[in-house]
Amino acid sequence: MTWTPNSWRNLEALQQPTYGDPSALDEVTKRLTDRPPLVFAGEARSLLRDLGAVSRGEAFLLQAGDCAESFESSADSIRDRLKVILQMAIVLTYSAGVPTVKVGRIAGQFAKPRSSDTESIDGTELPSFRGHMVNDIGFSEGERTADPQRLMEAYNTSAATLNLLRAFTKGGYADLNQVQAWNQQHAAASESGKRYLQLTEEIQRALRFMQACGISTAEEESLHVVDFYTSHEALVLPYEEALTRQDSLTGEWYDCSAHMLWIGERTRQLDGAHMEFLRGVSNPLGCKIGPTATAADVEQICETLNPDRVPGRLTLITRVGADKVADTLPPLLAAVRDSEHPVVWVTDPMHGNTYTANGHKTRHFDSILKEIEGFFAAHREAGTTPGGIHLELTGEDVTECLGGNVGSDTQLPERYETMCDPRLNASQALDLAFEVSDFIGERVAG
Ligand code: PEP
Ligand code: CO
Repeated sequence: MTWTPNSWRNLEALQQPTYGDPSALDEVTKRLTDRPPLVFAGEARSLLRDLGAVSRGEAFLLQAGDCAESFESSADSIRDRLKVILQMAIVLTYSAGVPTVKVGRIAGQFAKPRSSDTESIDGTELPSFRGHMVNDIGFSEGERTADPQRLMEAYNTSAATLNLLRAFTKGGYADLNQVQAWNQQHAAASESGKRYLQLTEEIQRALRFMQACGISTAEEESLHVVDFYTSHEALVLPYEEALTRQDSLTGEWYDCSAHMLWIGERTRQLDGAHMEFLRGVSNPLGCKIGPTATAADVEQICETLNPDRVPGRLTLITRVGADKVADTLPPLLAAVRDSEHPVVWVTDPMHGNTYTANGHKTRHFDSILKEIEGFFAAHREAGTTPGGIHLELTGEDVTECLGGNVGSDTQLPERYETMCDPRLNASQALDLAFEVSDFIGERVAG
């Protein structure tokens, strides 16, 4: 079947918003088609190259950010999310000695798949919240009505967020001389905070040593700027189609809403519209793999999304749950290994470990760590490469996940701020980075 930016329209598209007035949707997507791209094809190709290195075990991928971003994110909140990711990346890079490829769930992560179309509170039934790109979180009919104008606001908010991220990562804030400033105040006093401080002192001593040896650290660009990429779940297909452009250099199509796009667990049907849309764009792609995926499913996903077997093109993000990882992963890893598909294997230890405690959706640090540990163990056994981690986190001092500085579920209501799934706070994220760096260290040691 020939691919075009709208060939997905011939297939079933799950999890799409229901708009009252389809002509209003057409009017907005038409305007979006005329807007400048948010990212450039050349940047997506740089990420492809970096992920190719990850697939060979020469780098590690850290993909992280909000479950659902808000249109109201302040500059501080964006900066703090970036800070945690930079800080985790330094821990991973320094401890394991391999480069960390940094990809945010940011500047576009505004649409959510839901297991139920509606939500009921005290006998009132309304459409579920589907992310700020679709509707609002407040529980009234007006707020829950899908509004196509929100697609334009998603584009504008993505542009503003990306602008700030570019300024921070290229304008001095991500300079290696700033490593100490990335420590969050509220995390600095913890054991990991202190361990991080010690690590930054070692880095600064090494930089002074290099200078004393006559190496011009001021001129070494890689010490002063960072490559930071964006990603989100490509869920609302009219939006993604409207931001798809043909690259003038290569003639290839790119979805210019983000560098990397992924397909969620609920929309990865092989004959579905999401698979069809994404197979035709040349961005690096991700696909979530839940516990019901068979080896045959995974092989088909590889064939569909990466028929040319380009290293870095396809990242498979397993999210099976801590208790299932030891049984579920081995057949999948073996199938992909034996079919010689060059995938980047990533663990998402969040989405298979959600439960409710004290009336709040939460995840326990120990289960998150256990799934990561199982992921590394399964890869060691299969002789495949554990390429990275995919996390939901925030720089704010929230109390959404249990463990670390959130000791008891009675604390969950204190600062439970997420619009969707529970996120690690800065201190829990840093704790996790140190744990994961030990696993990568073992990977490197062989
Ligand atoms: C998510 O990443 O927020 C998500 C909905 O994940 P999944 O598709 O794996 O359930
Ligand atoms: Co989520």
